[in-house]
Amino acid sequence: MTIRISLSTLRKMGFSLTILSLFFLGAPMSTHAQQNDPDTQKMQWFKEAKLGIFIHWGLYAVDGIDESWSFFNGYISHQDYLKQVNGFTASNYDPNEWAKLIKETGARYAVITSKHHDGFALWNTQFGTLNVMNSPAKKDVISPFVQALRANDLKVGMYYSLPDWSYRDYTDSTRTAKRYTIDNQPDRWQRFQTYFKGQLEELSTQFNPDLYWFDGDWEHSAEEWQSAQVREQLQKKNPNVIINSRLNDQGDYATPEQGMPITRPKDKYWELCMTMNDSWGYQPNDHRYKTADQIIGIFVDVISNGGNLLLDIGPKADGSIPQEQLTILKDLGRWTNKHQEAIWGTGAGIPHGHFYGPTTLSEDQNILYLFIKGKPKEEIVLRGLKNTINRIYVVGQGTKLAHQVVGKVYWSAYPGIKYIKIPEYVLDENMTVIALMLDGKIDLYREDGAVVESN
Ligand code: GLC
Repeated sequence: MTIRISLSTLRKMGFSLTILSLFFLGAPMSTHAQQNDPDTQKMQWFKEAKLGIFIHWGLYAVDGIDESWSFFNGYISHQDYLKQVNGFTASNYDPNEWAKLIKETGARYAVITSKHHDGFALWNTQFGTLNVMNSPAKKDVISPFVQALRANDLKVGMYYSLPDWSYRDYTDSTRTAKRYTIDNQPDRWQRFQTYFKGQLEELSTQFNPDLYWFDGDWEHSAEEWQSAQVREQLQKKNPNVIINSRLNDQGDYATPEQGMPITRPKDKYWELCMTMNDSWGYQPNDHRYKTADQIIGIFVDVISNGGNLLLDIGPKADGSIPQEQLTILKDLGRWTNKHQEAIWGTGAGIPHGHFYGPTTLSEDQNILYLFIKGKPKEEIVLRGLKNTINRIYVVGQGTKLAHQVVGKVYWSAYPGIKYIKIPEYVLDENMTVIALMLDGKIDLYREDGAVVESN
């Protein structure tokens, strides 16, 4: 039995991925690893994006309960869950405002739940009746958002759940109840295929997404979903479409969830998706928001290891964004705007051990950025840098900083230790970044040490 199977079994037993990741540190990574070797050109914008905003918007915002899982796991009946349709008004929905907010964070793309596992579609689908047209909102809410994103030069990501626990021809309806098995009723499964592929065709035709964010593939095998065929179908519409790892075996990039990997992921392309509090959708009773400091800290950890952060918001059923989330987006935007040069146009930083903190490198590798958390006591330390430093400055603030090289010996390649003084007045309220302009491409000392050969 692979980890994938044991994880999904555990999930069916009601464990959330957040809890599971505590047990299987790193497991979500291997569970949802990148399987394809996508061409670099297609992945370019994604690689450069660094930050995306995830949006979980759906029925579940009405009562403020777990998205889809609340009925699947039996915390509420399906019937009661669906009553929320009557409260989905989108009455204060302002897609242009959403796009503007997203743009201001510095994010380059957004991914919205066009349909979660509960089956409630946010666009005017011809497949099935559980959709936004039959709620008080009575309008396709995806179209205007897609337009607003494009108008702001943001890439469009479509989250789509493969499982549809409400649909009459889908196999599973709750954790314990199955409608049928594919072996017993292959025709029924065929009808479901027509249904979900039809919806995907609509999404492709109407919105031409730059990226598909599939979810829930763990409920069936690649053969059952016909994932290769699904990929082909989407690529026919858009040859450059990017597909996340949750269309079994067909992913272009890995999707670790909630937990920042401790060691640098081996996947070429990856994206950490993470909630701001402990919920994907709007839950007024969940006040466990991460602080702006923490979110910025995680974001920097992600980019210093070569990944993207997909940070989630959960709008209310009327389409407004909760104040706590607005504040975080604003704080994040202030910080990314000030430190743009250390974020965009850079790549993963230097290996751990040279500097006790995250780092990034400019594309030509001539500038090293150091991210400094909190208030350092007088100076910070950088070890094993062979280059001469031409200049050090505080990013977004400009102050020139002095440094001292200690312990360099003329007879060895050992470069000594660099101490950089950071005066308190240059510190950023969330995280300070300094840039080291080197005399050329970064050159690191990675040897064990030197033996005295001369003195
Ligand atoms: C999980 C959950 C889902 C959530 C998703 C976001 O797979 O099933 O509720 O939408 O993670 O990454």
